[in-house]
Amino acid sequence: MLSKKVKDALKGLETPFYLYDMDLLRVTVESAATMAARYGFVLHYAVKANVDPRVLALIQSYGFGADCASGNEVRCAIEAGFDPAKIVYAGVGKRDHEIRYAIEQGIFAINCESLEEMQVINDIAGELGKKATVGLRINPDIDPKTNSCIDTGQADCKFGISYEEVLRSADQIKAMKNIIVKGMHLHIGSQIRELHVFEYLCEKVNTIVANLESLGFKLDFVDVGGGLGINYDVPENEPVPNFASVFAIINSHLKVGGKEVHFEFGRAIVGECGELITRVLFNKTTATGRKLVIVDSSMTELIRPALYGSYHNIENITSEETRQERYTIVGTACESTDVFDENITLPLTSRGDLLTIKSAGAYGQSMASRYNLHDLPRSVYSDEL
Ligand SMILES: Cc1ncc(COP(=O)(O)O)c(C=O)c1O
Repeated sequence: MLSKKVKDALKGLETPFYLYDMDLLRVTVESAATMAARYGFVLHYAVKANVDPRVLALIQSYGFGADCASGNEVRCAIEAGFDPAKIVYAGVGKRDHEIRYAIEQGIFAINCESLEEMQVINDIAGELGKKATVGLRINPDIDPKTNSCIDTGQADCKFGISYEEVLRSADQIKAMKNIIVKGMHLHIGSQIRELHVFEYLCEKVNTIVANLESLGFKLDFVDVGGGLGINYDVPENEPVPNFASVFAIINSHLKVGGKEVHFEFGRAIVGECGELITRVLFNKTTATGRKLVIVDSSMTELIRPALYGSYHNIENITSEETRQERYTIVGTACESTDVFDENITLPLTSRGDLLTIKSAGAYGQSMASRYNLHDLPRSVYSDEL
């Protein structure tokens, strides 16, 4: 909830922009770090969720490692001060130059997603005269009970190596002389709100680790990925996600004999601290009677509703009207799917009003594009207003 002082300060700013609540980000990062320390868990921040420099700097200052999805993300994390020895790098399609860079930087682990990739890592490490530290990203075939667009751990999806293939290929993997398989990794999906899914994940991991060890792999770490969801419906009810519960579940259900346990949260760390502030350009009514509010941002600033059908709570933060109306909020991009929400109740909304599109700190600004040659959105920080 924005204070009157903040709302007044926002009125004079050019829109659209991302507003980051730096106090909330700090409280969230502190909560995750404190709860993880209770169990000795290791935290990586999934950089893809938000690469704003101040956001990265704050998270890094709490000693987090980084989880990266490209060579450029690895570089960005290192430039932001993350220790390479705390960086993990996953991705189904790593280019040779990205693999080479990751090995040269001596990152904690390349989380490898196919046998062919493993062979390429082995070859490149050999050319460099180095040993590459690898985690096996295994596809565990788990339904994460989330939006199917952001589900990454079911058998038919592109992520991870199938468990059966790893078992079948154990000797081939162990014969790769320039690779050290130090751990196993999985990430089953994002925006997981049904926490019992993590219990099931632990059961699968327990079996996978026991079988890998019986095949002669000596694992030091288990990386259970990210995925903890946030409250998009009523963000004010849960500004800091429930790290305590997910850590308690993992602590009590994971039986992997003293190995390091790593997490890679993105959304849960930054989702609630960011909101997209946008201004109303026009109102119009379609021939069918639909009342449209056209705002000055679009899917180029926040693509999640258009891409995944995701919900974001929207509020008019400047209207003083007591009368209400039902509106569909649309953006400026030349795409019919460029709709932020349909049929929502707002106070009477007019040209010049400011709307906030909440819970946009994760996969908002980092997924922005220049389609229609829109400018990339700026960041505004609560402590600089
Ligand atoms: C491998 C990996 N780890 C971690 C994450 C972060 O997920 P979340 O933002 O749901 O925590 C992702 C998200 O796509 C991912 O692909």
